[in-house]
Amino acid sequence: MAAVLLIGTAAVIAGGNILWTCDPAIAKQLFTLHTVQVPVDLIRFHDIWGPTVGSVEGQEWKNHRKIINYGFGPSTLPIVWEESIHQTETLIDRWARDEFVVKSPRTWMSRIALHVIAGIFFDTRMDWKDTESSNTNNDSYTSSLPNAILTIMLHLGVLFVTPRWLLGKLPFEPFQKTNKAFVDFTNYMLELRAKVLEKSDEVSTKRSRTMLESIVVAGSTNLSDPTVQPLSKESILGNIFFMMMAGHETAGNTLGFALLLLAVHPDSQNQVQQEVDDVLGERPKSDWSVETDYRALQKGYLGAVLTETLRLYHPVQFVWRTNVAETTVYDSTGDSHVVPANTLFCVNFAAAFSNPSTWPQAKISSAKRADLHFSRALDFNPTKWVHTREVTDNPTHWPFGQGGRTCPGKAMAQIEMVAVLATLLKNYSIELVITEDVLKACGDDHRIARERTRDDAIRRLEDDVEANLTIAMLKDLPIRLRGRFDETSP
Ligand code: HEM
Repeated sequence: MAAVLLIGTAAVIAGGNILWTCDPAIAKQLFTLHTVQVPVDLIRFHDIWGPTVGSVEGQEWKNHRKIINYGFGPSTLPIVWEESIHQTETLIDRWARDEFVVKSPRTWMSRIALHVIAGIFFDTRMDWKDTESSNTNNDSYTSSLPNAILTIMLHLGVLFVTPRWLLGKLPFEPFQKTNKAFVDFTNYMLELRAKVLEKSDEVSTKRSRTMLESIVVAGSTNLSDPTVQPLSKESILGNIFFMMMAGHETAGNTLGFALLLLAVHPDSQNQVQQEVDDVLGERPKSDWSVETDYRALQKGYLGAVLTETLRLYHPVQFVWRTNVAETTVYDSTGDSHVVPANTLFCVNFAAAFSNPSTWPQAKISSAKRADLHFSRALDFNPTKWVHTREVTDNPTHWPFGQGGRTCPGKAMAQIEMVAVLATLLKNYSIELVITEDVLKACGDDHRIARERTRDDAIRRLEDDVEANLTIAMLKDLPIRLRGRFDETSP
């Protein structure tokens, strides 16, 4: 028998209980109470190679977490900054081939996030060539490491639902392709791991290491930290894969939404450009620094734009927790609720971050709001974050989680996102693409055509947002880059 019970902003379904919540007070308790844990059995589908930081609990989790934290050491962050700037410059060159029309900003932003990860994890440079071609000089592999990475990330669904033993036996193209990439990726990882272990003394004294080197050294021996228990090679590979997965769509989707929001809100875009000009001036990109320039931009309006994007379009749908014993939780009104053991909790990020009682909406008439499909893009207002964002324990907004499992990639993601947007907006503006049809329908009046295109984009920023593995704009909504200092403008 199933029963549904609503408690405040939380819903409980009994008979294998599931409790959905977007109440910040309840969320905070779920992230921090000792009786509440990650439901590891549910998350094991991520364990393609072996257990990872995301799929273990207790002491085992602490050990994984210590090991992966070595990967985010201080020497990594300047490399993230430099690699993100470099990759954005090469992406602008790539976009020039399409006359600066970018059909699906999300796709390119996910790709750039993957390129940055490949640089940080493996010191390998991915380029913008089409992916599926086999370009390897080594007979043991069917594709290069960048191609194997990309193919795996594009076929995550196939990888998760197909048992490994079946993957290579199914005669269909997506399975064959995924299997080849899986085999190649595994072998590349094993080879790279073996090389690090061969030279572990040398690697462990290097000032700047790749993420892979840091994790292999920390997790395979107790050279760096005697309190760390070595991990199996399957878990080393698993953690590398898990971090690549956790780090690329999240940052990529957020950047994709940020580009669209800036195209829809040109005033905000102007403010970012003003700030970028003030902070970076005319200095060459090689002089831009993570210590001063990144910090100024992250604390300023550009950081506020990213925080507001994460509020309205957070890429994580929800996170799971479960309680190992009966638990009393208190909602935002102070009411208590006793939750039976083994309840599955789903903390809904999108609902928590758009609850109108916490987040006042922009003053727009209800008729206009209805006409624009109640799109959350209408409520984009970065200014609210300019002075308040640095509060570390914000009770109502926690885009990188709370408690022990707070995102270890937070600094990396923020540096990468600021670097990409600063590099783009320093020399280019982002616009929505006005089609010939719309222009014609508006009697060649550019102002009316622009308004119509904007309204349509705002609607689509509600209607076309989809939840797959993450929340993303899966349909094309094109933008165009226009040189900021170009004379010609319609
Ligand atoms: C905008 C970008 C990102 C967002 C919004 C984000 C968000 C989050 C959130 C909310 C969690 C907590 C999940 C929970 O409580 O169960 C998390 C965990 C995690 N994130 Fe991120 N993340 C981002 C980027 C990254 C990057 C770049 C990496 C690494 C390269 C990364 C690696 C991880 C890992 C490994 C965990 C699991 C930590 C654990 O279970 O101890 N994330 N992330």
